[in-house]
Amino acid sequence: MTDRIRAGIVGVGFMGTVHSRAIQRCGGVLVGAVGSTPTKSWEATGRLGAERPMETVEELLAADLDVVHICTPNASHAPLVRAAIAAGKHVICEKPLAVSRAEAEELVALAAEAGVTATVPFVYRFYPTVREARNRVVAGTSGAVRLLHGSYLQDWLAEETDDNWRVDAATGGPSRAFADIGVHWCDLAEFVSGHRIAAVAAQTMTAVPRRGGRPVETEDAAVVVFRTDRGAVGNVTISQITPGRKNRLWVSVDGEAESLSFDQESPETLWIGGREMNRQLLRGTAESRYVTVPAGHPQGYQDCFDAFVADTYAAIRGETPDGLPTFADGLRAATVTEAVLESARTNAWVEVPALTVGSEVAA
Ligand SMILES: NC(=O)c1ccc[n+]([C@@H]2O[C@H](COP(=O)([O-])OP(=O)(O)OC[C@H]3O[C@@H](n4cnc5c(N)ncnc54)[C@H](O)[C@@H]3O)[C@@H](O)[C@H]2O)c1
Repeated sequence: MTDRIRAGIVGVGFMGTVHSRAIQRCGGVLVGAVGSTPTKSWEATGRLGAERPMETVEELLAADLDVVHICTPNASHAPLVRAAIAAGKHVICEKPLAVSRAEAEELVALAAEAGVTATVPFVYRFYPTVREARNRVVAGTSGAVRLLHGSYLQDWLAEETDDNWRVDAATGGPSRAFADIGVHWCDLAEFVSGHRIAAVAAQTMTAVPRRGGRPVETEDAAVVVFRTDRGAVGNVTISQITPGRKNRLWVSVDGEAESLSFDQESPETLWIGGREMNRQLLRGTAESRYVTVPAGHPQGYQDCFDAFVADTYAAIRGETPDGLPTFADGLRAATVTEAVLESARTNAWVEVPALTVGSEVAA
């Protein structure tokens, strides 16, 4: 491996573009970027600043690369991860890691057998205020966690004319709203609290029955009540049809001594609630290695990706960055998603199996 990590990207839409910036900002070299057609690949080469044009995934995987970033629609993740690992590459695969728990389990096992670094961008973990919240829970400042609650609300699929590959189960997977954004909420709530969602009672709803001339089989929204492995209870509302809400990821972790609220649309502050006084902690006033500019100059979403990719590359170099989301966390998300769908289908509480593979067990 050279000093500079050599990367390739598959999928050159929204996420491929965000990943390309992160690669460059953390000192990597973008060797090639491949889209779904040769024309898209050529266009992306210049736009994303890749070293040289490439037309196919095979060409990319045969190149002198350390890591492949998979930024394609969900159903293509598993075959691309298999191919990247077979080619001896480290892998960053977008969430959801896979469209079923069984597939995610297979990918975790493949990555472990190959001994490669394999991560999933649950990037909200990389806001300094989120790390501060987690530190307070770990240090005991907040007291034992009793409640976890919140929502992840969007509106970009609120109208009948709205459509996207995510709507189609063959491309997006059997869960849409929950697998797309609900998994971010669950990852964040579990990351900050240290609890694991142990059982769920869920309802899903499809408000728009047809989009793009075809019936819709995936959910527009989900409401989930849950209990955790350490005795807390909680609930979350997930929606892609809430007018006015863009990326309103809001989570409250309520401990005995204080409650902590994080809002992704105002990520520069952490709300800390107390019996006598409420406070807003400003990002940058507490120590965090993820602070890149002084408080008052806003950091945001792209900074989280930059930090996530930098930590993944540190792991490729043999370091062990704290809180790096791995394939085990992708499997965890797929496991919770399946439990949510099963609960909604059966109208019953469903236990969420604990992980038996990956970093969580080792931790
Ligand atoms: N971590 C996050 O915060 C986050 C945010 C948004 C999206 N995502 C995930 O990123 C992935 C991509 O989402 P997006 O919003 O960038 O979608 P997008 O539609 O903007 O881009 C997808 C790209 O993949 C290309 N593509 C499709 N099939 C391909 C194939 N077989 N080979 C090569 N290219 C192919 C398409 O042409 C398109 O350019 C999804 O899995 C999504 O869930 C993650």
